[in-house]
Amino acid sequence: CGIVGYIGQPSLLDQHSSLDVLMEGLKRLEYRGYDSAGVAVVTDGAVEHRKKAGKLANLTAELESRPVPVASVGIGHTRWATHGGPTDLNAHPHLADGDQLSVIHNGIIENFAELKKELLANGVAFRSETDTEVAAALLGHIYRHEGGQDLTKSMQLVSQRLEGAFTLLAVHADHPDRVVASRKNSPLVVGLGEGENFLGSDVSGFIDFTRRAVELEQDQVVTITADSVEITDFFGNPAQGKEFTVDWDASAAEKGGFASFMEKEIHDQPAAVADTLLGRSDVDGNLILDELRIDEDELRNIRKIIVLACGTSSYAGMVAKYAIERWCRIPVEVELSHEFRYRDPIIDANTLIVSISQSGETMDTLMAVRYAKEQGARTVSICNTNGSTIPRESDAVLYTHAGPEIAVASTKAFLAQITAAYLLGLYLAQLTKKLYREEIKDILSDLADIPAKVQQILDNADSIKELARSMAEASSVLFLGRNVGYPVALEGALKLKELAYIHAEGFAAGELKHGPIALIDEGQPVFVVVPSPMDRHSLHAKVVSNIQEVRARGAKTIVVAEAGDETVRDYAEQVFYVPETQPMLMPLLTTVPLQIFACELATAKGYDVDQPRNLAKSVTVE
Ligand code: G6P
Repeated sequence: CGIVGYIGQPSLLDQHSSLDVLMEGLKRLEYRGYDSAGVAVVTDGAVEHRKKAGKLANLTAELESRPVPVASVGIGHTRWATHGGPTDLNAHPHLADGDQLSVIHNGIIENFAELKKELLANGVAFRSETDTEVAAALLGHIYRHEGGQDLTKSMQLVSQRLEGAFTLLAVHADHPDRVVASRKNSPLVVGLGEGENFLGSDVSGFIDFTRRAVELEQDQVVTITADSVEITDFFGNPAQGKEFTVDWDASAAEKGGFASFMEKEIHDQPAAVADTLLGRSDVDGNLILDELRIDEDELRNIRKIIVLACGTSSYAGMVAKYAIERWCRIPVEVELSHEFRYRDPIIDANTLIVSISQSGETMDTLMAVRYAKEQGARTVSICNTNGSTIPRESDAVLYTHAGPEIAVASTKAFLAQITAAYLLGLYLAQLTKKLYREEIKDILSDLADIPAKVQQILDNADSIKELARSMAEASSVLFLGRNVGYPVALEGALKLKELAYIHAEGFAAGELKHGPIALIDEGQPVFVVVPSPMDRHSLHAKVVSNIQEVRARGAKTIVVAEAGDETVRDYAEQVFYVPETQPMLMPLLTTVPLQIFACELATAKGYDVDQPRNLAKSVTVE
């Protein structure tokens, strides 16, 4: 879910009301969930709220027909449903204490059932099925009974009693001068203004208004007024946050002339790769990863690497495995975070955990990293979001510099993650001397050429778009790849599922004959990601045979191959060429036509490519 809070001096009302700030923030945070949205503002001793199921536009319409009074303080929420379906009633804010208290929440409160029982026994009534309303009711109850009608103190007491993950924001009619918030295992950042202060799930919640931000630590409560920010732990002891400056350009979070964020982000990819490479090596081919603050000797002693990630990021992890094993001769396992944690994995101090997460907030990955840390592993995070939880809790971080990714399905972050994984692999190879300086220099120089090559693909995308439009009625599409082309096939299939709601599956091309070939029927579209003819294992010939095998059974074969590879022409209905690079780096190029294909096909079907149904960009529940 996305959360925003605001309080300003009344003199600032000429510039913007709390509602203006909240709606602006919610627009930017909508990618975190969009099942429903709501706001609450405090004026004249009363809390006014509006909430609506569906996208933010529904809330905007509701506010037009039933406006709220102009106010200097308020909270806003955009929801990704967990407890209780996406209805008006279950939307946030939730009210308590005779409708004077309004609360919004992100996360899951695990002990809500037992708390609800206790509150029901105390005569409290409930209107929704949400765990949030339980938190609101508990806050209201404590405010009246133990908290001395002090909102901050009551929030501290409530936070001690809640289990699970939560960010809570509260406003009360008795206290129109403040917003009180609390966080445990769920994100929250403070934005510092002049005569006004902000709260957000992340900095995009207030990026239009200020660049100065404060990170909260785990288990903290913060009270903002127009002129002050006070942080404590759950027991009221004063605490400090860490101030930082947001270096994102607000315009980077706009569509920049494209029809969708997704299209813009696909076009941002040359810059995403270039920026991720920037300043991380010198002209002699030395990797300089100063941010990787783990002792070099410790890194030299790493015996096993485990990459943890979910979704698209896990496919970047698979590419990392191929590269790191080849270059560093260190065994690498790749595992979905949610599977890893619950299977008694074998980890010790010589295990390096590399987590990959665009958002840095994915709960499954966060929990897996925490678990690995407890077992004594060293942890590195590859992450795109500055100051987010996973990098903060890891021993070291290698940031991808893709800029804010707004479209829910990942594109530019994926290419940036793969780039960062290569850099990490090369750095480990440098430390362990598994590659010669000249080899590293060669790879770096080929990496430096990638942005221009991605641009070339983007500039010549008409035929792939045309194919996509012609396939809008397809009901199933298969993707085949081998070696580093295998994760690309998986990602191609995932993009199509996410954006176009078409059944799509990615296979290792060699596995085809062991089962999936039974799926091939007359006219079945099959994408094949063909390895470079220069691949040292001669996989090229094997994949060309795979194309022939499916074609002989009636498949419509669509091939992504390296420029100059004429051998594939005879076997493919259509060929899309990508510029030449070394075989290991090919995923940075072969992924791009598949992204364009999925985006264009979904657009042709009239779907919202930025916010596909049922998905959320940052899944902060397990
Ligand atoms: C969600 C998104 C996916 C994303 C995955 C991992 O499921 O819908 O697009 O790949 O989370 O997100 P992360 O932020 O950890 O990379």
